[in-house]
Amino acid sequence: MSLEVLEVAAVAGQFEVQVAGQGLPATGPGQCWLAQPADLAGLPLPVFPLDLGDGRYAFWVTAQELTQPGSPLAEIGPGWQLPVFGPVGRKWLPPGNEGHLLVAAADPGRAWPVARLALGLGWAIAWLWRFRVPEWAAQILPPAVEFHAGRPSPELIDWADVILIDHPEPTTYLKDLRGLGRLRQTGRAFACQTPPMPCGFGGCQACWAQTRTGRSLMCVEGPWVSL
Ligand code: FES
Repeated sequence: MSLEVLEVAAVAGQFEVQVAGQGLPATGPGQCWLAQPADLAGLPLPVFPLDLGDGRYAFWVTAQELTQPGSPLAEIGPGWQLPVFGPVGRKWLPPGNEGHLLVAAADPGRAWPVARLALGLGWAIAWLWRFRVPEWAAQILPPAVEFHAGRPSPELIDWADVILIDHPEPTTYLKDLRGLGRLRQTGRAFACQTPPMPCGFGGCQACWAQTRTGRSLMCVEGPWVSL
């Protein structure tokens, strides 16, 4: 299937792609689509949609995802047809109807669609950056989201019921942030894992990743998994 690209907008180094996809299979929380590269030897790119209603969706990508050679999005612009397949993965939201959600992610693309749904369910959201608050934060995230940067305080760790991590090495990231590992020990740390996903349905066995309970295929059990 393909999506019609309506708009590509740059916001402080992040890119919002709005698309129209009437008749797409329903996409649940936490699931992604795989955007197909024009070169079939290339790998699909996972993108995480926000449902804007009326068959319109938006997803956020980084400048690198948009422009790197071989990216399915490399020449994207209004009117372009973007081939995608999916939804891929399992539906997932932080458990419960309300609580305190800490997000540790450098970019909005993967974590924000899930966090926004959680916000709508009554969760309080705090966002943690490793070094400093980036410029895009105040332009993309609503005022209801609290911003934190640097080493988290013990109070912030105690506050969090669940932490969502979008980092290439989530386990190492947790260990580096002194005290946050406690959230893993109590089963409250979740990470977005997107190893290369060539097929998106469990057929190629290429997307194994480590989870709290063992190894799982991320296109079936992920991409959000308990660490
Ligand atoms: S992408 Fe092929 S098994 Fe997961």
